Amino acid sequence: MDLKDHIRSIPDFPKPGILFYDISTLLRHADAWQVAMGRMARAVRAHQPDLLAGIESRGFLVAAPLALKLGCGFVMLRKRGKLPGETIPLDYGLEYGTDRIEIQADAIERGQRVVVVDDLLATGGTMAAGIQLLRNIGAVVPAAATLIELTFLQGRSRLDVPCETLVSYD
Ligand code: PRP
Ligand code: MG
Repeated sequence: MDLKDHIRSIPDFPKPGILFYDISTLLRHADAWQVAMGRMARAVRAHQPDLLAGIESRGFLVAAPLALKLGCGFVMLRKRGKLPGETIPLDYGLEYGTDRIEIQADAIERGQRVVVVDDLLATGGTMAAGIQLLRNIGAVVPAAATLIELTFLQGRSRLDVPCETLVSYD
């Protein structure tokens, strides 16, 4: 199955000039979504994760079912101010300004293997921040994984771990 048949592109969203790759159409097609999760599971299992970390919000849609499939735990990397209890933040640069992701301070045990999962790798800034935050709290990050890669943005070059992807656009 070609998963591209189930990923819709929408021009000028969220801003003029941006072509948005929409996974809504993949998620609502049960067979295609099963195939996508099966392929992701095969690729990610090889890195022997103890946990998967999903990046809010679309990363949750991929990471949580994948964790269930792999029989490993799931932790959330969330946007500012959403997590209760003690949290550890990481600020990272955007084209204009900065953004922040947070994790609960007790989310992982030192040395656990955590694969970071998102829906899409674009510039790689979000994924690089996720990996760094996990390392800051003692995780070993053997790999990243996304459904989609926008290869022309070279996000992969910002990562120092392999990134498993199913579909790429150039
Ligand atoms: C999108 C996408 C990735 C990130 C990729 O998230 O889901 O998380 O951007 O971009 P980058 O590689 O250039 O950092 P977005 O911030 O749109 O939020 P959402 O997941 O909550 O929809
Ligand atoms: Mg996102």
